[in-house]
Amino acid sequence: MAEIPATTTDSGAPVESDEHSLTAGANGPILLQDAYLIEQMAQFNRERIPERQPHAKGSGAFGHFEVTGDVSEYTRAAVFQPGTRTEALARFSTVAGERGSPDTWRDPRGFALKFYTSQGNYDMVGNDTPVFFVKDPMKFQHFIRSQKRRADNNLRDHDMQWDFWTLSPETAHQVTWLMGDRGIPRTWRHMNGYSSHTYLWTSAEGRRTWVKYHFKTDQGIECFTQDEADQMAAVDTDYHTRDLFEHIRDGQYPSWTMYVQLMPYEDAADYRFNPFDLTKVWPHGDYPLVEVGRLTLDRNPTDHHAEIEQAAFQPNNLVPGIGPSPDRMLLARLFAYGDAHRHRIGANYQQLPVNAPTAPVHSYSKDGAMAYRKTADPVYAPNSKGGPAADPAVSGPPPSWGVSGEITRAAYVDHPEDDDWGQAGTLVREIMDDGARDRLVDNVVGHLLNGVSEPVLHRAFEYWTAIDPDVGRRIREGVHAKAGEKDPKAEQQANPARSSMQHKA
Ligand code: HEM
Repeated sequence: MAEIPATTTDSGAPVESDEHSLTAGANGPILLQDAYLIEQMAQFNRERIPERQPHAKGSGAFGHFEVTGDVSEYTRAAVFQPGTRTEALARFSTVAGERGSPDTWRDPRGFALKFYTSQGNYDMVGNDTPVFFVKDPMKFQHFIRSQKRRADNNLRDHDMQWDFWTLSPETAHQVTWLMGDRGIPRTWRHMNGYSSHTYLWTSAEGRRTWVKYHFKTDQGIECFTQDEADQMAAVDTDYHTRDLFEHIRDGQYPSWTMYVQLMPYEDAADYRFNPFDLTKVWPHGDYPLVEVGRLTLDRNPTDHHAEIEQAAFQPNNLVPGIGPSPDRMLLARLFAYGDAHRHRIGANYQQLPVNAPTAPVHSYSKDGAMAYRKTADPVYAPNSKGGPAADPAVSGPPPSWGVSGEITRAAYVDHPEDDDWGQAGTLVREIMDDGARDRLVDNVVGHLLNGVSEPVLHRAFEYWTAIDPDVGRRIREGVHAKAGEKDPKAEQQANPARSSMQHKA
């Protein structure tokens, strides 16, 4: 048996007892000189860092990404060159719930990846949905607040959610997805991940291509029904966390095959949808999937706080060959995450082992709280003292696209088929089968009966009718029929106490 080490203080000195405080006499008062007791109490008070504002509940694991295809004619990113294997970290999450909230609430799931590449860290911070609720970052904060809690009673509120959604018709596509089967994955292993955004790939020859990423689960898509998810939330709040951890612990490593959709640079101007509008997909018939590689998760964290809670994903962690696109949501995200990390973790969050790149760091950042990467002279650039010097031959040119126009505050200029309802309607009519449509109607009816009142309710009927007249009619009839029922279940559903316990979106 391994020898048990003697307990020490954080400064490494051996302690006399893990159980008894230092007192003046066995029944006397404790003494201020008990440095170990004081260290225990003080350290305990500082164990929590602020939870992530959105995506607070989640977990993750380490693994690797292996390139199986050949996309070298589109990007010079080392991580995607044929045969390359790169260490990776994944974190999955819900969006609206707090750190202790149930894993099985109806909500999009975060699908955040960090690749420790030879050119520095590359983060792909996506979701399990190919689209998002809004397309302008000005609305993101308002959207998230509408999904979280009210000011007065600190409860989640479906009326608030539908108020925002029905006043923001661009949410229709994502809300249709959310209210359908995919709104509650059975486990994180059984869901896809998407970049959602369009990125710009640049090849070694300077060729530019717009790209969307799809990580398709090799375990197959599986979802929970609302009832299954409700039951699981009551039985095991941490079901998805547990499922991932136990499968990796038992050697059943989940994997995802990564594909991309590739749009020639020139196509963007005339494509039937605005290719940078985050509420739209590119139909696969227009841009088919091209295989790139496989992500496998095979190592659990050993310290959730150090390796997952303090993990800092940021969409601005880009590497040569991968750049942003004109998607204004993505451009705002390039700022938001680093700012969140500096607040949530601290100025030197990138020095923590989970966030530190495996590629060498030669930056001029220095000092700040908790700095432990040593800086060396010279501390400025340019210098003639042998300090690092930026080299365009190494970095390549910045990712670039043509820009024109007066400074303004305006919606995107529409492409021919851009409208808020079209792709949502296609999802309802062409992707969902009869069973999926029935469950969609049931989910929406149940959600609306759970605290949504006029005038929001009326707008919700109009919203669904604009997506699909038949589904809109069925939702209206379903709500009216059930609202009129006098059975105990309907009364229970209308009871705010139940809604406070069972808010799911
Ligand atoms: C987390 C901001 C849109 C995916 C976060 C966090 C912030 C944020 C501040 C918390 C970061 C932290 O404390 O570690 C924003 C803003 C957005 C936006 C300002 C739009 C303007 C999106 C979109 C996606 C997304 C469109 C998916 C395509 C995620 C994920 C996380 C996250 C997966 C959790 C990352 C992790 O696991 O640590 N977001 N977000 N966000 N966001 Fe966003």
